[in-house]
Amino acid sequence: MAPKDAKKPESAPMQEERRRTNLGLPDWRELPNTIEYRSESARRVRAGFVGCGGHSYRNIYSAFHFAPVDLIAVADVQIDRAQAYAREFGAERAYDDYREMLAKERLDCVFVVTNYDENGRPRFPGIAMDIMRAGAHAWIEKPPAANLEEVEAMQAVERQTGRFTQVGYKKMFVPTYMKAKEISQRPEFGGARQLSIRYPQRMPAPETRYALAQDPLAVGFLDHVWHPFAVIQYLMGDAASMSYVWDAKSRGFFAHFAFKNGGIGSLHSSGGQASGAPLEHVELVGDGSHLIVDNIVKLTYYRKFQGHYYGRSGDFFTPDESAPIVWEPEMSLGVLYNKNTFLLGYANEIRAFCDSVLTNTKPDQAGLRDTHMMMQIYEAFRQPAGATIDFKVPATVG
Ligand SMILES: NC(=O)c1ccc[n+]([C@@H]2O[C@H](COP(=O)([O-])OP(=O)(O)OC[C@H]3O[C@@H](n4cnc5c(N)ncnc54)[C@H](O)[C@@H]3O)[C@@H](O)[C@H]2O)c1
Repeated sequence: MAPKDAKKPESAPMQEERRRTNLGLPDWRELPNTIEYRSESARRVRAGFVGCGGHSYRNIYSAFHFAPVDLIAVADVQIDRAQAYAREFGAERAYDDYREMLAKERLDCVFVVTNYDENGRPRFPGIAMDIMRAGAHAWIEKPPAANLEEVEAMQAVERQTGRFTQVGYKKMFVPTYMKAKEISQRPEFGGARQLSIRYPQRMPAPETRYALAQDPLAVGFLDHVWHPFAVIQYLMGDAASMSYVWDAKSRGFFAHFAFKNGGIGSLHSSGGQASGAPLEHVELVGDGSHLIVDNIVKLTYYRKFQGHYYGRSGDFFTPDESAPIVWEPEMSLGVLYNKNTFLLGYANEIRAFCDSVLTNTKPDQAGLRDTHMMMQIYEAFRQPAGATIDFKVPATVG
């Protein structure tokens, strides 16, 4: 036992401080793309949450560890779930009616991860409009709405209230896609000229393609297409026109796009692809350079090279300065960059939303403007296969 007059031990430095001193490293805050833990953040958003279901449990509440979110209250129509989530994720109060939560709590923003109503329609538009009218910003999961009219109704409420809605297009925040976009904008890449994306998705027959109340496949189509659409919107910008062909047996399709930037692209919606295989594969071609993102985590950059001497070069190597660059995460260390929360874009999308809320600025991407463009693409499949469909430029809401 320590003698009574023994001095209290000085607080022990954390491993991180010890490592920094021993290796002479700068403070991590001085380096780009380093992450503050929630417990360290000085300024946080006061947040509510609507929906205490499976996806939010696995991926959204848990991502708050890495975003400045002060979770004040949660709501679910099943009060036992709301109470359990409040306990588990540290919210102060639980409600069975989100309207009561909006009326009683002072919130900067509300996250919404609810499911479909009895007619197979997403509940997000009505809830997002209630949130904005209550004076808070909204973050909603995909699918943001069932049609363009609902998107325009949300945009009207953005205009009336000065609040905004961001949608959970996690693909716009996937590190490999963010890196691909950054590279594609370098002068030497030659611009984002051609995009090809393969993503597994079956599309119902024309008769029930939008029959959300009747055909579960129609709900599945609405549920998932936002993922490849988000990659397209993020890497190529607005589409100008589209046409598609559809295979009645596998229910897969190819859609071809012309973009406002003059580039072109194709979405291969590979209905019939083996389950269990990696889902997505993306290729972005510039002018003499191209990028491949495989299975979200592997990025290959084939840089400009004048070419081998045809018929004479005895090896296939390119000079080091124009050799391909391959990035993939190491998966051994217990760090942030190899966590699903970061690799799949969840932490980044939530952090971007919190920044927008804290600075009261509309998000540059994944907002309702992007949604308006992407919803036009979803609705274009109402037109017969083979037709060319022109898109409107989405209105920029002030
Ligand atoms: N981006 C992604 O990676 C990803 C992954 C999976 C699911 N999702 C999306 O997340 C959403 C939810 O999916 P899920 O599988 O978690 O569903 P879920 O059914 O497990 O959870 C939904 C919860 O919302 C609650 N709810 C429904 N209406 C409500 C209301 N009016 N007020 C309060 N609570 C209400 C339900 O009681 C339920 O607890 C869907 O839109 C889905 O497309 C996104």
